[in-house]
Amino acid sequence: MIPVCIPFIGEKELEYVVDCVETNWISSKGKYVEEFEERFAEYCGCKYGITTTSGTTALHLALASIGMRKDDEVIIPASTMIATAFAVIYCDATPVLVDAEPETWNMDVEKIEEKITDRTKAIMPVHIYGHPCNMDPILRLAREHNLYVVEDAAEAHGAEYKGKKTGGIGDIGCFSFYANKIITCGEGGMIVTNDEEIAEKVRSLKDLAFSKERRFLHTDLGFNYRMTNIQAAIGLAQFEKIDELAEMRRRNAHLYNKYLKDVEGLTLPVEKEWAMNVYWMYSILIEDDFGMNRDELMMALEKKGIETRTFFIPMHEQPVFQNMGLFKGESYPIAEELARKGLYLPSSSGLKEEEIRYVCNAIKEIEERRL
Ligand SMILES: Cc1ncc(COP(=O)(O)O)c(C=O)c1O
Repeated sequence: MIPVCIPFIGEKELEYVVDCVETNWISSKGKYVEEFEERFAEYCGCKYGITTTSGTTALHLALASIGMRKDDEVIIPASTMIATAFAVIYCDATPVLVDAEPETWNMDVEKIEEKITDRTKAIMPVHIYGHPCNMDPILRLAREHNLYVVEDAAEAHGAEYKGKKTGGIGDIGCFSFYANKIITCGEGGMIVTNDEEIAEKVRSLKDLAFSKERRFLHTDLGFNYRMTNIQAAIGLAQFEKIDELAEMRRRNAHLYNKYLKDVEGLTLPVEKEWAMNVYWMYSILIEDDFGMNRDELMMALEKKGIETRTFFIPMHEQPVFQNMGLFKGESYPIAEELARKGLYLPSSSGLKEEEIRYVCNAIKEIEERRL
């Protein structure tokens, strides 16, 4: 089976982990945590980097650090991974949805303004599948309406918008280092920001909000979202080859594009002229004229030993939110269409060209045989 995604781990990761164990620095203090934070922040063009236990907890902390509270609203895409919306709910605030746009599959910037109310506190763009959102219009709206911009860059390490790294464009950027991400530390996350006050707050909240004046006295509701030095050791070793790993994803995408470009009924991922797409997952749409629907194609590929995944199910269709009475009667046609037609193909950084060719030939064979 060619899996959808496996990590690309090497000797350096092992060496750094062994160093943690041998030196006894296995908990959440240590040189790997510090260096990983500093270097990752700098890479994103930010002054401050703060590690967390996951992308989800990074998003939660980001929103908590700007004082999100009950009745506040956060604008998020309808088509995203559920953690984006969960983070808003954890703060007792309300997610407000914006449909996707059909080309990049990111939040449609034309549809954001109509969702802004006097309760809106933040916009949370998600750089979906590694393609950056069109950030300028989002930043302009945020300035006009005095809103925070919290980037969910969980899937977009190293991607660029007009030459700027995603995560470092808004007020706060959040990353995930889950095993399928462009760099991983098993489980983990990171917040980057240029705002000293936010950075301080995040550092405090992630560590149970111990007060500086007197330990064991707490004025805020804190969390334990501390990454261990062992995780950071893997993260740093991965970080040292971040550009190479992003480039491998891009090379894979270019090969897929080359082999699939003439297959009728497929929509391939784009790269806008202002973007550098890191193709976290090589994602395609199975259009109605492919002659077989997305689920049938997935089953046929599975029989040939090729693992695939569907796109995310939109937030307004999630039972967990419907049961909370959210998004009643709302519809987001583009997000719904993407969920129906979208799948991603094997996308590991270390994928070999023969494997990509095998996947593409399998798709062509399946397509030809049904004709
Ligand atoms: C867009 C997006 N946001 C948030 C997350 C949550 O990250 P984690 O799994 O590290 O909690 C993920 C991914 O896995 C994601 O894809």
